[in-house]
Amino acid sequence: MLNMTLTTPFAVYVHWPFCLSKCPYCDFNSHVRHGGIDETRFLRAYEIEIAAIAARAPNRTVSSIFFGGGTPSLMQPSSVGAILNCIGKHWTVARDVEVTLEANPTSVEATRFRGYRTAGVNRASLGVQALDDASLRELGRLHTAQEALDAVAVARAIFERYSFDLIYARPQQTTDAWAAELKRAIAEAAEHLSLYQLTIEPDTPFFGLHKAGKLKVPDEDLARDLYDLTQIICADAGLPAYEVSNHARVGAECRHNLVYWRGHDYAGVGPGAHGRLTIDGRRVATATEKRPEAWLMRVEESGTGLIVEEKLTSGEAADEYLLMGLRLAEGIDPARYSALSGRALNPKRISILREEGAVETTADGRLRVTQSGFPLLDAVVADLAA
Ligand SMILES: C[S@@+](CC[C@H](N)C(=O)[O-])C[C@H]1O[C@@H](n2cnc3c(N)ncnc32)[C@H](O)[C@@H]1O
Ligand code: SF4
Repeated sequence: MLNMTLTTPFAVYVHWPFCLSKCPYCDFNSHVRHGGIDETRFLRAYEIEIAAIAARAPNRTVSSIFFGGGTPSLMQPSSVGAILNCIGKHWTVARDVEVTLEANPTSVEATRFRGYRTAGVNRASLGVQALDDASLRELGRLHTAQEALDAVAVARAIFERYSFDLIYARPQQTTDAWAAELKRAIAEAAEHLSLYQLTIEPDTPFFGLHKAGKLKVPDEDLARDLYDLTQIICADAGLPAYEVSNHARVGAECRHNLVYWRGHDYAGVGPGAHGRLTIDGRRVATATEKRPEAWLMRVEESGTGLIVEEKLTSGEAADEYLLMGLRLAEGIDPARYSALSGRALNPKRISILREEGAVETTADGRLRVTQSGFPLLDAVVADLAA
């Protein structure tokens, strides 16, 4: 049985599934609609869905809200405001709630950003991806490096907090070039950066090009060097990794993402959104219909876009806690794992991983992956999971 108090963080994720164009590396639930979309109709469906989820998980205090995508910065500020009002109608919202909106540099205008600010957004997360034009073109991005930097300046002027994303381990990228680019990025960053290694996802144009030998990405050794360099440069600049791909000054971590990694509850609203809700002491996994128009019709017809509501077994809930929690530099609380799963982690496996230098136990008894263990995270989790 999970313990739930009023102060337990509770997050709301709102997925906006539309983009101006589809980037060739991206396998997120994002769609291009040249004919435009009926935003008012979608907005109404978001409101219905929020009510439906709040009925399943009432009496929560929302500590963070995240508009992700897709490209939520294509939404009208009034729609963002209406969704925030609706969340406030169905749940209590914490006074210091973190409200993040993901923005693509092509759709950043100061007036629009001020509108989001007025609506209640207090943190922007920008998809910069690269700071050189050739790479941006290769990634299929519609913005230039200068436009990205201009967008960062707008975010800095308008929001209390901002972060931006870069993708590294890109085709032909050298360690010297990445070091220079990262230092340039850090000079523009305030408190938070997300740095993702390029992954070649199935069913994307990059996958086909890579398979055909037309897209050469760094081999394992170079990718490892780029990763190590990233850790050193960011830590030196006061932005250590608090999660595999996320760096922040102490206290400036993204509270919303911490909810996922620390295994707390979150509602997933919009097409293809996932959620985790504790209902009657059981952790329930939820997911909505992915296809935007099918989701819309489903919500209109049945009052919810949910297509999955699955009670997790204690083993599944515990393994999920392990999988998510070990991504964090702070690691996991083995006692919480035991409480979830009904049995302790295997001490023999832990001691082998400890001898190999992949995990360590902190002074306060937490189990965490070491710096050198992080590149082997998947194997470590597989080893420890039930
Ligand atoms: C879903 S995107 C949303 C942000 C916004 N739509 C944009 O692209 O600017 C979130 C982030 O995931 C990262 N990302 C997406 N696909 C990736 C891939 N194949 N490899 C590495 N990072 C990826 C990008 O850094 C991107 O900013
Ligand atoms: S803009 Fe972002 S979400 Fe949209 S296709 Fe590109 S990476 Fe994916």
